[in-house]
Amino acid sequence: MADNLLEDSQIIRAVVERQLVTPEEVRAAQEQLERLPPGAPRRPLGDVLVDLGFLTRTQLSRVLGSSDDSGGRPAQQIPGYQLLNKCGAGAMAVVYRARQLSLDRIVAIKVLPRRLSRNAEFVERFYREGRAAAKLNHNNIVQAIDVGEAGGYHYFVMEYVEGCTVYDELANGKVYSETEAIEIIRQITEALVHAHERGFIHRDVKPKNIMLTKDRVAKLADMGLARETTDLQAALQEAGRAYGTPYYISPEQIRGEVDIDHRADLYSLGATFYHMVTGRVPFEGPTPSAVMHKHLKEPLTPPDHINTALSSGCGAMIEMLMAKDREQRYPSGRELLVDLERLARHEPLVYAQPHVDAHALETLSRGQVVTLESPRSDGRYRRRAATSAAAGAGSTLTIVLATVAGLSVLLNLILLILLATR
Ligand SMILES: Nc1ncnc2c1ncn2[C@@H]1O[C@H](COP(=O)(O)OP(=O)(O)O)[C@@H](O)[C@H]1O
Ligand SMILES: [Mg+2]
Repeated sequence: MADNLLEDSQIIRAVVERQLVTPEEVRAAQEQLERLPPGAPRRPLGDVLVDLGFLTRTQLSRVLGSSDDSGGRPAQQIPGYQLLNKCGAGAMAVVYRARQLSLDRIVAIKVLPRRLSRNAEFVERFYREGRAAAKLNHNNIVQAIDVGEAGGYHYFVMEYVEGCTVYDELANGKVYSETEAIEIIRQITEALVHAHERGFIHRDVKPKNIMLTKDRVAKLADMGLARETTDLQAALQEAGRAYGTPYYISPEQIRGEVDIDHRADLYSLGATFYHMVTGRVPFEGPTPSAVMHKHLKEPLTPPDHINTALSSGCGAMIEMLMAKDREQRYPSGRELLVDLERLARHEPLVYAQPHVDAHALETLSRGQVVTLESPRSDGRYRRRAATSAAAGAGSTLTIVLATVAGLSVLLNLILLILLATR
């Protein structure tokens, strides 16, 4: 599976960058592959592109034989390291498994495309952030080891993680149980707290940047890896190269705000959490801009409406993480850790809590049972009135009058009034 993904992503990069095929044609080929019956042998994407007539066999062989920019031979030229094999490719680079000769250990080396050497400002940032990240040390962060340049290629050396990414598992159709997702998100939150408290913001938290070892230790990758462009441009580049769409980017990054802070990572972590427990990205759309528009404007479908097995606390927590206004999110990863630990123990949360709004109270006063749903990402609350017969069904967060009374001071007051008027 990994090999196929690797080959396919390299082919996509090469053929789209050379404008041999369009991203739409790549997508058509990917759809064709997705329609293969389960269990059928997976075909290389390049062959499907040829079958569909988007690429000639000669073009494909040329592409396979000469993956130049970030794909081909550069890592062999990195002094002190012996290239072993490619272990992945993303939007901007190829990752190799390599041996660090001095210490005789296996490392991963991310090699950036040659063209990036021309961007002096980027190169400066790449070194500065890479060196700073090498000082971070945390079991849930892929350890940065070295940065350098050889033969016109810039590279980033890091701990080699044997295992897979959350992205790989999602791509295989996995929907995480709440318990399993909480444990992975908790570990990544630990990583973020460590980094945030030392002045790092990741800016690209997503399933592909969460690696899982065989023992299910989660490790956040690409911490301290400078990006060439703004967050928005980087996300669009990824989309343009058919690697994905900005499914996890925060609204403030989309708006191109300059004072991005650690809460952007909390939003992206929330979007990742959402995907893990529902099997769906929070916002879908035909184009990157449609998806981004939804991040900015569209209320989130509560995750516990998609997966009704989720606890209301889990839903409320994800919605708080994904609040469009960062002031409504967790103030930091520390508070999130408190809630995650309580959620794991099935205890009431401290920060993310379902609330009651005025309409609900009004309905209550008319004697109906109210089904309350978790807070929406805009900080307001969804509410649905139901007859008592229907009240038990459907929603994940059903709070009947007695429970609500215990939770809300406001509600207590209204109840008192109701009692007094009786
Ligand atoms: N430290 C590592 N150890 C092992 N494999 C890695 C490591 N870092 C990245 N990879 C593999 O390389 C792939 C591409 O990574 P990357 O270039 O960072 O992609 P992206 O830009 O989408 O984050 C990952 O999906 C993963 O499979
Ligand atoms: Mg990565």
